[in-house]
Amino acid sequence: MNKELVIVIDFGGQYNQLVARRVRECNVYCEIYSYKTDLKKIKSMNPKGIILTGGPNSCYEENAATCSPELFRLGIPVLGLCYGAQLMSLALGGRVERAALKEYGKTQVHVDDSSPLFAGVSADTICWMSHNDYIAQMAPGFRAIATTANCPVAAAECTDQKLYAIQFHPEVLHTVEGSKMLYNFVRGICGCCGDWSMDSFVEESIRAIREKVGNGKVLLALSGGVDSSVAAGLLSRAVGRQLTCVFVDHGLLRKNEGDEVEAIFGKGGQFELNFIRVNAQERYYGKLAGVSEPEEKRKIIGEEFIRVFEEEAKKIGAVDFLAQGTIYPDVVESGLGGESAVIKSHHNVGGLPDYVDFKEIIEPLRNLFKDEVRKAGLELGISENLVFRQPFPGPGLGVRIVGEVTAEKVKIVQDADAIYQEEIANAGLDREINQYFAALTNMRSVGVMGDERTYDYAVALRAVKTVDFMTAEAAEIPFDVLQKIMSRIINEVKGVNRVFYDLTSKPPGTIEME
Ligand code: XMP
Repeated sequence: MNKELVIVIDFGGQYNQLVARRVRECNVYCEIYSYKTDLKKIKSMNPKGIILTGGPNSCYEENAATCSPELFRLGIPVLGLCYGAQLMSLALGGRVERAALKEYGKTQVHVDDSSPLFAGVSADTICWMSHNDYIAQMAPGFRAIATTANCPVAAAECTDQKLYAIQFHPEVLHTVEGSKMLYNFVRGICGCCGDWSMDSFVEESIRAIREKVGNGKVLLALSGGVDSSVAAGLLSRAVGRQLTCVFVDHGLLRKNEGDEVEAIFGKGGQFELNFIRVNAQERYYGKLAGVSEPEEKRKIIGEEFIRVFEEEAKKIGAVDFLAQGTIYPDVVESGLGGESAVIKSHHNVGGLPDYVDFKEIIEPLRNLFKDEVRKAGLELGISENLVFRQPFPGPGLGVRIVGEVTAEKVKIVQDADAIYQEEIANAGLDREINQYFAALTNMRSVGVMGDERTYDYAVALRAVKTVDFMTAEAAEIPFDVLQKIMSRIINEVKGVNRVFYDLTSKPPGTIEME
């Protein structure tokens, strides 16, 4: 689909996806491949540049992740980052050793801005270092283009062969001018003109989907989350009423969410497609009655989804394509690096429905990062409200109600959450906090309202700041905002007489309650 491609070779570093995202921010398409990928395959993709990521090993160790030295002789510009830089030096005749002083964190780096890699970069700039080893001796033909107090070769270049090595991490935001360095590499040194943009992605995808689907029928399970909604929008623009979306309302969605999804994708909405809403609330509450063990609840919700979806699919009959909202991090995290199909199971449990009659899977967002999915959504005219929706777990409010789920508890948590969302937005904090929601503790306690004694539930407010959702810190919400939320929830939500703010970071806590 794209003329220009940069390949990121993954050596297991924790920032590999970030490298690819930063390259795409330069409007250059790139893909991540494992270091084990055959060189012939890499060559055949005709990349305009190659970036080697960091990695956890020492490159001189036995069994360390490595690459063929031929990679550096393809005539394609190569940029090595951290481990990648060391590997390049070692492969080309330099020496890499354990540093006497390891560098970690924000570090002042002095760069030579006559190097094309550092064009326009300040001579003294802050970069993110994280290494035990260092380049003790550069490979022949290289010259140092950056230094730190402890690292004589913080970056090196061999301009004749367009080989560049950087000891620090330009991809992380702590490297203040890192984006400029990556831009210099892909747009300057590799000569990419920047032909990757979301408007052209949308246009080209629509064309490609039409070609692939022909007159065929497509079936998509729509959850109301960002990925499946954008997939639905894209498929609808491509094949219109050949697409059927099944939206299962399991009664564990946020307040009004089911109606919002229907307003966008249902009759009279902005998209042409067949939209089926299954109101399965009662069915779910029935299955969940008396169940309080978290894993069992998750399992029931996931399995029930598959059963409901299958029943609808049976009514529709055979389809040609089953569409999935798989996105690029799903592909990369599965370790496949685009080498074979990944099947993302809805709700992350249960897998694919067994009895849906389809011939092929279609995954229109398979190459996109989350921020790109959002841009594609806006490009398709899907509302900002939906496109910038926070992550919402497949089992929905089921994991935000501690203990047994009942219709009454769902209503309490929906109402409390709606107030919380509204007040966080009023305080202008909604884009600053990565995820926030109300949850219902299973605790009831005594209170007093007016002159009456109450014995009601306690709501917990959760708000976290996080980059990757693997670790998280509780967000600092101004006390007056918290007080306002508490007072509105207690006054407006029947059945609640106490509000807690959850301060727990992850680890040891998880973001969700269950
Ligand atoms: P935890 O609670 O594991 O959550 O710290 C990390 C992130 O994942 C989301 N989450 C889920 N997402 N299916 C999903 O699609 C699930 O079963 C699920 N459980 C948790 C959670 O909202 C947070 O963003």
